[in-house]
Amino acid sequence: MKVSKKIINLETESAFAILAKATKLISEGKDIINLGIGQPDFPTPLNIQEAAIKAIKDGYHGYTPSNGILPLREAVSEQIFEDYKVDINPDQILITPGGKPTIFYSSLILGGEENEIIYPDPGFPIYRSMINFSGAKGVPLKLIEEDNFEINIDKLEKLITNKTSLIIINNPNNPTGSFMGKKKIDKLVNMLEKYPDIFILSDEIYSKIIFDNNQMPSFLNYNKLRERLIVLEGWSKTFCMTGWRLGWSVWPKSLYEHANKLCVNDHSCPNAISQYAGIEALRGPKETIENIIKEFQRRKEFVHSELNKLNNMTCFKPGGAFYAFPNVSKSGLSGQKFSDIALEEKGVALVPGISFGNSAKDFTRISYANSMENLQKAIYRLSTI
Ligand SMILES: Cc1ncc(COP(=O)(O)O)c(C=O)c1O
Repeated sequence: MKVSKKIINLETESAFAILAKATKLISEGKDIINLGIGQPDFPTPLNIQEAAIKAIKDGYHGYTPSNGILPLREAVSEQIFEDYKVDINPDQILITPGGKPTIFYSSLILGGEENEIIYPDPGFPIYRSMINFSGAKGVPLKLIEEDNFEINIDKLEKLITNKTSLIIINNPNNPTGSFMGKKKIDKLVNMLEKYPDIFILSDEIYSKIIFDNNQMPSFLNYNKLRERLIVLEGWSKTFCMTGWRLGWSVWPKSLYEHANKLCVNDHSCPNAISQYAGIEALRGPKETIENIIKEFQRRKEFVHSELNKLNNMTCFKPGGAFYAFPNVSKSGLSGQKFSDIALEEKGVALVPGISFGNSAKDFTRISYANSMENLQKAIYRLSTI
């Protein structure tokens, strides 16, 4: 069998394997609380569902332009203006089936054997997988608990070489729930300005799920980086639309056509019905979403304080997304072993820190996208490990 060597380098996302395992255990009658998968536990708001049904009835059944329909790209541009007071031409906005393709395309366009790409560790596992697949050398930027899992700018600067083509930044961060505010991003941008040939992929998919009245410091606010900035965003997390497969990204003019060609080659165009639903999500009423974010804040506070009462872990205070990332070394177990016991003996699905990078062996990720009742039950079960 002559399988391409590149395929061997492709990794996977453990959260999906754990979801499959948890689903199988549930089908066997086991009582499993799933705190593994990173998706809101709320249905897509009704007005968005209705827009999709209308799109079907109105006959939007065919292909669309590969980069997405213009009214949707215009709606994204308006949303960016509303959020950040920044003008982005719809011609620089690309609609894709979820946010993931943006990671794939950035890595393919800026990767390759001669290049190095810096990525967060712990971080979303698809970064490393895609970098390796592209042939580039992946350079992990360690995010540590002592720094509140924020980027240490000096450490990052030391990793830059003349081969660095791309730096991936994720704020708020998966898996740690860490959030970097404007002051930190200002400093980071000042440092990045010294390296005008390096592109930046800012993964801002959790931009709307931030707590304590903080404002999102989007990289789109920094004009001076615009010509080398890719921003990954989408509907999945904000609008509870993970299954609709709809994402948007902003690309520099120099790369847009490369990315659009990858779209044509890969999937032709995003799903037409989802795109019409996406317009309603951006332009329609937002109360449901605002209430969901308030509920995440309530759960964050509960989970953070309850986990810190346990004697087998300590937990850093999350600032965004819907993840807690406790250090379980007090249990005497690795994050992997702790998570295995949690699922197999206690019926709680978690994702071990190691799935997000080698620097997170002592950690496990808890997605608190689950009801208060289940969170309470799950934390009690974890206390017995
Ligand atoms: C940091 C981060 N980026 C990108 C994605 C991909 O999102 P989507 O489901 O829209 O492809 C995820 C999903 O979990 C994520 O956590």
